[in-house]
Amino acid sequence: MKSLVNKNILLGVTGGIAAYKSAEIVRHLKKSGSAVRVIMTKSAEEFITPLTLQALSGNRVSTDLLDVESEAAMGHIELAKWADAILIAPATANTIAKLSSGRGDDLLSTTTLAFDGPVSLAPAMNQTMWRDDRTQENLEKLKTKEFKIFGPGSGEQACGDIGLGRMLEPLEILQLFSSSFNQEEMSGKSILITAGPTQEPIDPVRYITNRSSGKMGYSLAEAAIQSGAEVTLISGPVHIDPPEKCNFIPIETAVEMYEAVMHHIKGKDVYIGTAAVADYSPANFNESKIKKEESSSSLTLELQKNRDILKSVSKLANRPYVVGFAAETDDLLDNAEKKLINKGLDLIIANDVSNKEIGFDSDDNEVTLITTTEKKYLEKQNKKKISKKIIEFISLAVTN
Ligand code: PMT
Repeated sequence: MKSLVNKNILLGVTGGIAAYKSAEIVRHLKKSGSAVRVIMTKSAEEFITPLTLQALSGNRVSTDLLDVESEAAMGHIELAKWADAILIAPATANTIAKLSSGRGDDLLSTTTLAFDGPVSLAPAMNQTMWRDDRTQENLEKLKTKEFKIFGPGSGEQACGDIGLGRMLEPLEILQLFSSSFNQEEMSGKSILITAGPTQEPIDPVRYITNRSSGKMGYSLAEAAIQSGAEVTLISGPVHIDPPEKCNFIPIETAVEMYEAVMHHIKGKDVYIGTAAVADYSPANFNESKIKKEESSSSLTLELQKNRDILKSVSKLANRPYVVGFAAETDDLLDNAEKKLINKGLDLIIANDVSNKEIGFDSDDNEVTLITTTEKKYLEKQNKKKISKKIIEFISLAVTN
């Protein structure tokens, strides 16, 4: 189940006899390479202990919405931000009803409400409850909201009835869940991504740099890897680890980034310039530390313009699909559109870096994807999620 590798999966366990099978689900998820966190409802704890799922998942099991300690450790919003997908197995008729009506009266329903990614349910209930119109209406409503419903299966039930309502077996659920990830859309494609800042040395102890944590570029690299692409990541100095499965090339200066890009661009299908490249560097590097002059109250540095990497990639013969970012503090869309045209790009991604809650350093971003024919706004969300949507958008352009 390749598609589950490196995924953050939030498993919801609700109160039905099939809850004991959730231990097996956690085991399969972990074996498939996913990180797993579990939320249990109060009634689920009557069927299986949190300790069992904690030992298998390797993470503290969350149970309470209003528990100060849990909220401080990883509350419902953090859990929703962390997850790539939610799987609720078993999903009782009660939980299905709550989700369908948008109620949030426990940790699982509240987290699901706060989550804007894919949610899958493996229903488990008595056959009469399953056939009930209200349950079926709730499920139909959830399907229109793109919830995926796995099963249920048919057979003898714990209560002795025979009919539809048994939860599918853990392995069947895992197979359906794994194939629900549309993750190989960039399979066979190679992508070059730049990230982070560049550092332009003034003397051995000082440099000029731009603000960038690397979070946006590294999330894009991760999303591209998960979409099946082969990824080369060229990055300036940052404090986060690069994704494991990429060809990682660390650089420091804008000149080094330019050279690394030009060296690796051949044969790439997509180039994404996320890096905050210094537009100017000191014209001369002082071999010795510049001394503070007691007699002068100022110091003049001469700066020279760096080559525009993005523009250079756009001008290449056999160029890839070229994507730039526009980091703007005002006239966001107008300035981004000018960059799209002036730099000869296929796509520019506009982000407002004057807003402290998005852009630089933040875990979130809010962007508009602009081509010559289309504008697509992506609301404020975690950079990991926004990266998936950006990669999906690019994949439609390069695979059609
Ligand atoms: O790293 P984070 O903290 O997560 O922050 C992410 C980000 C805000 C840095 C990122 O989302 C972003 O906006 N990156 C682009 C930063 C930037 O330099 O923007 P710009 O508008 O100045 O440049 C436009 C484009 O030209 C960018 O794609 C840039 O990589 C490219 N460029 C700029 C100068 C240069 N010499 N060569 C280039 O290729």
